[in-house]
Amino acid sequence: MTSAKIISGTEISEKVLGEVRGEAEAFRSRHGRSPGLAVVLVGDDPASTVYVRMKIRDCGLSGIESFSHHLPGDTPTEEILRIVKDLNGDDRVDGLLVQLPLPDEVDTVSILDSIDPAKDVDGFHPVNVGRLVRGDRDVLMPCTPAGVMRMLDEEGIDPHGRRAVIVGRSDIVGKPMAFLLLHRHATVTICHSRTPDLDRTVRNADILVAAVGRPLMVKKEWVNPGAVVIDVGVNQLTREDAPGHILEDPDRVKDFDKKGYTLVGDVSPDAVEVAGWYTPVPGGVGPMTRAILMANTVKAAKWRAD
Ligand code: GUN
Repeated sequence: MTSAKIISGTEISEKVLGEVRGEAEAFRSRHGRSPGLAVVLVGDDPASTVYVRMKIRDCGLSGIESFSHHLPGDTPTEEILRIVKDLNGDDRVDGLLVQLPLPDEVDTVSILDSIDPAKDVDGFHPVNVGRLVRGDRDVLMPCTPAGVMRMLDEEGIDPHGRRAVIVGRSDIVGKPMAFLLLHRHATVTICHSRTPDLDRTVRNADILVAAVGRPLMVKKEWVNPGAVVIDVGVNQLTREDAPGHILEDPDRVKDFDKKGYTLVGDVSPDAVEVAGWYTPVPGGVGPMTRAILMANTVKAAKWRAD
């Protein structure tokens, strides 16, 4: 029994990437070079390594030149700062991101603060955070929340006057998501793993954004019937931790047999039976995040060139 409309991030991201390709090509014709994205990876965190590989691949598919810097895990903060400074001054580089999380020994805040705000395609620099909070129009926005807004727009879902509940308060997703929805006139509640009676608050949501990083934490029973459910979570779930309805899904069983885990979101997938709209994991928000990164890179390139 499936009642929700599935919002396909895979399809919408293809549309975004098509737009990016056109804009990258136009930029190239006009300026004699492609937009450029530099990606700095420190260490060998397996998830970060996969994400960075996909970002570099997306550049190739989008007509964006990529500059990849893979540094050893014990690289000191000062050395990373030096590399960021070089990339800030490199005219071929329009967008610059440092993949997070950085190793514990690295001073993450000083690294993020050192990125030229005009090249900050992640939207993590305090200047860009401030502009976003203020509601400026022309700002480099964090990719995941911007991707979620694009999904809502593509589905014709207007946040105006709706109750939006965000589970998760990270700087990367929860906080900027709250401001983007607020600027579109939603009434926003931010909650998190320590919110009392979380289920009751979640049940209030017309638009629910789950970005807490805990596999299957939001249960089907927590979802307001007909709600828009946006699942930002990407978690590895092993067979041992999987509840019965996951073990009964043949695609998941295939994943367990092949990889030893399956990717699940923060929302239990049977919530699809009560939601009005639903973003699957995988194939929901993930591809949108990467597509918006490409869109931000072209945007930064155009702003820098004008
Ligand atoms: N790690 C997890 N998500 C992100 C992201 O959007 N940008 C960067 N730089 N690192 C991340």
